[in-house]
Amino acid sequence: VANVMWGGRFSQSPSALMEAINASIDFDKRMAFQDIEGSIAHCMMLIASDIISKEDGESILNGLYQIRKEIEDGEFIFKKSLEDIHMNIEGRLREIIGDAAGRLHTARSRNDQVALDIRLWIRDAHDRTAEQITKLIKALLDKAEKNTDTVMPGFTHLQSAQPVTFGHHLMAYVEMFGRDLTRVRDSRTRLNESPLGACALAGTSFPISRHMTALALGFDGPTRNSLDSVADRDALLEFMSLASICAMHLSRLAEEITLWMTPQFNFIKLPDRWTTGSSIMPQKRNPDAAELVRGKTGRVIGSLVSLLTTMKGLPLTYSKDMQEDKERVFDAADTIEIVLAAMTGMIEDIQPVPERMAAAAGAGFATATDLADWLVRELNIPFRDAHHITGHLVAEAEKQGCDLSDLPLEVMQKADSRITDAVYGVLTVAASVHSRTSFGGTSPKRVAEQVAYWREKI
Ligand code: ARG
Repeated sequence: VANVMWGGRFSQSPSALMEAINASIDFDKRMAFQDIEGSIAHCMMLIASDIISKEDGESILNGLYQIRKEIEDGEFIFKKSLEDIHMNIEGRLREIIGDAAGRLHTARSRNDQVALDIRLWIRDAHDRTAEQITKLIKALLDKAEKNTDTVMPGFTHLQSAQPVTFGHHLMAYVEMFGRDLTRVRDSRTRLNESPLGACALAGTSFPISRHMTALALGFDGPTRNSLDSVADRDALLEFMSLASICAMHLSRLAEEITLWMTPQFNFIKLPDRWTTGSSIMPQKRNPDAAELVRGKTGRVIGSLVSLLTTMKGLPLTYSKDMQEDKERVFDAADTIEIVLAAMTGMIEDIQPVPERMAAAAGAGFATATDLADWLVRELNIPFRDAHHITGHLVAEAEKQGCDLSDLPLEVMQKADSRITDAVYGVLTVAASVHSRTSFGGTSPKRVAEQVAYWREKI
């Protein structure tokens, strides 16, 4: 027979190239357990619905259990000639139990089978990702909590803007990963419907129960439209979208770690185990893990764009193009898994260098806004004028090569005669940070509130 599965219509075997372009077993074997779970649920439903006999059904089930064991034990032989995981498992079932194996595929097609398998797989990936993001958030909370008073420069345009705290900065990432977590949960809710029973595309004339298989596989219910069920890959696209956004957040943090670790910044220390040396320059300690978190983000985004491009021109319902979904999704899932783990480890191990951060926080006239605010508050000067006066004083300090707080009172009073020496009280970075008490602001008390909020929520 040209092909054991559909040999009836075929007189020739596929050419070697046909087999090479067609075979997906090298990667879709990663859905082996999902495929078996789906087949077990399907088979039990076929028995319960009197579509196959109890006897055949039980021999199918026992065969499937044996195959699952063979795969677990690494004894299963995956064959390229059998194309994909579905055919490989059915082929092996036939070897074990004989002709009854042919009854398993009653009221089912590989189209709903593959849609089911990949959905089960991606559902697990959602759960793993949620767990990992939660761990990362906890690591950030621990670090932030210890650093609500650690003053560092806040930047806009990568120029010193206003002093903030390291804790506050880390809590900004908690907000990002917190949103990522809600995206994972949202997406999981949407994907949790079973496509099994859509069959090739139109449903089936057999009296199946799609609700029964959906329930058995932990779904909220069956999908409603059989055409959409076999044509849809939204769950994969959503996963890769949320993973792309999450990876983008990780990449920004990785970029900051890379920057903070330079001898020029020296804001943080990262233990050797997250770095590598140079084969030529003995002094080097390179932040490779952070760089790779940043670099691998491109893979995740690339995978999303790749599948979007594959899907965008496909007419309903299933087309073989869709087989291209798996490698992208597996790669995106593997990548987000390793970058989340690496980032969590780095965050746990990062040690801030408070002296360096504080020194840098004061540089670049970072308390200029505090001076302007003081003029508004104490002297009732309109903010625009206060901005002007302060700008003048910054220029003066720059000229003298000193800090704002080093300017003598006479110089200050030349800019506005009403200035008193009370102004020096607002020019320190610590005072600046403590004064930012608005909701969400950088004052230690406010940051502690943010930590408490997330501890409660997570
Ligand atoms: N290996 C295929 C895939 O991954 C399974 C579905 C094949 N269905 C078909 N009608 N050829 O998409």
